[in-house]
Amino acid sequence: MLNQALAYATAHADQHLQELLDYVSIPSVSAQPAHARDTRYAALWLSEHLRDLGLKADVMETGGNPVVYAEWLGKPGAPTVLIYGHYDVQPAEPLELWHSEPFKPVIRDGFIYGRGSDDNKGQHFAHIKAIESFLKGAGSLPVNVKFLIEGEEEIGGPHLPIFVEKNADLLACDVVMISDSAMINPTLPAIVYGLRGLVYFEVEARTASGDLHSGTYGGNVQNPAMALAQILAQLKDDHGRITVPGFLDDVRVLSAEERAEMARVPYRDAEILEETGASQVFGDPDFIVAERMGARPTLEVNGIWGGYTGPGQKTVLPALAHAKISCRLVPNQNPDKIYAQVKARMEQLAPPGVTLTFSLAPGSAAGTIVDRTAPEFMAAVRAARATWGAEPIFMLEGGSIPVVNDFQSALKKPVVLLGYGLPGDNIHAPNERFALDCFRKGIEASARFLVELAK
Ligand code: BES
Ligand code: MN
Repeated sequence: MLNQALAYATAHADQHLQELLDYVSIPSVSAQPAHARDTRYAALWLSEHLRDLGLKADVMETGGNPVVYAEWLGKPGAPTVLIYGHYDVQPAEPLELWHSEPFKPVIRDGFIYGRGSDDNKGQHFAHIKAIESFLKGAGSLPVNVKFLIEGEEEIGGPHLPIFVEKNADLLACDVVMISDSAMINPTLPAIVYGLRGLVYFEVEARTASGDLHSGTYGGNVQNPAMALAQILAQLKDDHGRITVPGFLDDVRVLSAEERAEMARVPYRDAEILEETGASQVFGDPDFIVAERMGARPTLEVNGIWGGYTGPGQKTVLPALAHAKISCRLVPNQNPDKIYAQVKARMEQLAPPGVTLTFSLAPGSAAGTIVDRTAPEFMAAVRAARATWGAEPIFMLEGGSIPVVNDFQSALKKPVVLLGYGLPGDNIHAPNERFALDCFRKGIEASARFLVELAK
């Protein structure tokens, strides 16, 4: 069966690639209201595609962007895998930095360039093409399959957790498979066994009822941009260690064994420097890159503005300044508690004459750890080993996939995170890409996983 499926995938590689290009060309940007229709269209396109392949597929409402649910349950008694992905993508801006248009995907030097090609359309489409390859190439699947492809992942959407909880029976399975992360490099697969959580908020600093002449009032009224900068600068020390009282209290302490394992992850200073163009690696000197990426929390300013930022000069003493701030959290840290601690510290640091107003974004998520000992996890290890001819690396990832927690609590089944992206794929940035080789091998790994699961 595996050989028939793999032969089908090889014979239809061009067609599968063309279909992925069509899918990536849909600008399903969940963050931007102007793309609301496109985002919905992506769900329709995908459900129709899955139906054409012989699955029972539906677009289901959630109160926000719909989810695509599809199933093939033709193997009673065999295990059932739930494959998760997201059809929404990050905004493409800044457009001027793209070498080709984000939603007119092209193939260049062995990569598909386009927004969403890696994160996440290419990765879950590989699973879809593996399913097709079994159904069309071998007439059947080794296991039962369910798909849940959502449309609010990139905005930390509030609707999916409720959907998962309400539809736990529909989604019942033996294992959840997610490809929404990256390999270590093109020859070395990685299985993620933990993800960070996220808490995201905005702060407004106000010092006057309206903007003022900086000559008349400068020197007599607080400047909100300056005050905000001073507050933010005191949230960390010079080495990047977070100094908010209590912030690190609940951070899981790594065992010596885990630290030794992380020291072996071939993702270190050199990789960071090469991928980012940064002149040096910066972070808590008590930890190494892999630890700081997955096992330590962060506090970052994602945006900061205030006063006049247009061309030329404007002698204004602004009344308002703003910042968007987010913290990546590791398991055991409670998002609400962390938000309260950071807020309290910033209020304490605010100089006289500065009023801070906070607003928390919806969709806070805690960090996740998955069970690495589950037999289903080992099926993924064998599939990756056979596909890439290398022993997969286990790692803690820095990004977030909030729904993993909801799957764990509602479905109580192991979650496998086998990524098909590459570190240099520019996810969330201009010139996002997905390697053709990753697409091809992703299909193979997915097919092998289903066969291993059936054993
Ligand atoms: N695919 C990423 C998560 C990811 C990033 C995994 C890097 C592994 C490596 C996902 O689509 C994503 O970006 N999630 C958001 C979630 C947030 C908006 C709640 C993130 O991490 O910023
Ligand atoms: Mn993603």
